[in-house]
Amino acid sequence: MPNPITVNGAPHPVPDDPRVSLLDFLRHQLQLTGTKKGCDHGQCGACTVMVNGVRINSCLTLAAMHEGDSVTTIEGLGTPDAPSQMQQAFLEHDGFQCGYCTPGQICSATALLEEIALGWPSDASSDLEGPMELTGEEIRERMSGNLCRCGAYTNIVAAIEEVAKEARA
Ligand code: FES
Ligand code: FES
Repeated sequence: MPNPITVNGAPHPVPDDPRVSLLDFLRHQLQLTGTKKGCDHGQCGACTVMVNGVRINSCLTLAAMHEGDSVTTIEGLGTPDAPSQMQQAFLEHDGFQCGYCTPGQICSATALLEEIALGWPSDASSDLEGPMELTGEEIRERMSGNLCRCGAYTNIVAAIEEVAKEARA
């Protein structure tokens, strides 16, 4: 009997069909429709979730590969009554228009802050060692896998900058 996949703290059996993507498992089998399907080819970032704290495109991985893993989706970050800091910042900064890309943006932004805290460099980092500074350039580079057809990029960056600033305070 395989170990379950834990999603937002709740264990779920690994699907019998090994062809099911993690994205379809979340949306169709668990009814967690906050995670969106944009391209289904790893190009838009709408399907971003966190697996063991690291962001991934859930359309590019099979659910069966995540036996024993812990998955966090937008529903696991917060609720309408108790949003996470990042969710609240997106609201306050109007970091969306249609909202289709927003769950992926927020999951990505949440994981991004952890990457910075761990000192993981990006292509925009001037120094590959030592503490990372979250400049606007760093945010844009690290969020470049999350496309927004509505062009809410300026406000998305502002929301992330605010949460990062609060984390430093
Ligand atoms: Fe997964 Fe676009 S739906 S990257
Ligand atoms: Fe519409 Fe980003 S808010 S695609």
